[in-house]
Amino acid sequence: MADKDGLKIAKDYHTDIAFANNNPFHVKGANSLDWGMKKHLANIFDPKSGNTVMFAFDHGYFMGSTAGLERLDLVVPKLMPNIDCLMGTRGALRTCVPPENRKAVALRVSSGSSMLNDDLSHEVVAVDIEDAIRMNADCMAVQTFIGADGQLSSLDNLNKVINAGFRYSIPTLGVVAVGKDMERTDRFFKLATRIIAEMGVQIVKTYYCDNFEEVVAACPVPIVVAGGKKLPEDEALTLAYRAIQGGAHGVDMGRNIFQSNHAIEMSQAIRKIVHEGFTDKEAWEFFQDAIH
Ligand code: R5P
Repeated sequence: MADKDGLKIAKDYHTDIAFANNNPFHVKGANSLDWGMKKHLANIFDPKSGNTVMFAFDHGYFMGSTAGLERLDLVVPKLMPNIDCLMGTRGALRTCVPPENRKAVALRVSSGSSMLNDDLSHEVVAVDIEDAIRMNADCMAVQTFIGADGQLSSLDNLNKVINAGFRYSIPTLGVVAVGKDMERTDRFFKLATRIIAEMGVQIVKTYYCDNFEEVVAACPVPIVVAGGKKLPEDEALTLAYRAIQGGAHGVDMGRNIFQSNHAIEMSQAIRKIVHEGFTDKEAWEFFQDAIH
């Protein structure tokens, strides 16, 4: 109990000022969500730029040890200062990521296949909601295979996670999977992102494509663009720039950051595009200056 002696009289009621907490929430499609969901989303998406730099290092969940991620305990902390949201498995996060970091967490919760399978589309929900809560996850990532053999079970996984997420106010990140036989066209991405959004996710991860602006326009929640296979750094910066120009609210890059010979500088350059309005050319110049 506060000491009652010498209490100041409460009088600063500012009756001439309207209630201040009335601003629209900065995350697309999230205005009607509750406070807990919004708090998690605000941990992921910067209130000033509205965007996020996610760093994906969840590859081990089906690829095992991946080039550039052999030592998660060394790689992740090194890159963390330039990252807003860490996307990883609970095994990687618990063992290799210091809990005192202040970054948002996108927890990979689906799994079930490996590089040894031809068809990767059969997964289960491997992490229960209680563990996501224990890990203070800001969102739960579910791979979603639209048009693949495992479509039904992956939509079932997605919906189970969304339902659990709504019970405890943890957002779900639906990840559009692209199999080797699946087209990477705006037609496919409009279909997949919209289905995933209508299931009730709060964030969609997908790939950049022609007519990307239309994919974004038709998706009522923020899209973060996947990095994909390693590109030369200037091309990866152009990908990030085009994604942001096209209306993405961030990138979720893995190999294009951690497989770069200059991963720290690459993460800094990506950050310039995502948060500071740099063009790809400006970010490339920044990158070159930084590595020399
Ligand atoms: C992709 O959907 C999976 O989550 C991957 O494990 C990872 O996020 C891919 O990252 P990148 O393609 O940028 O290396």
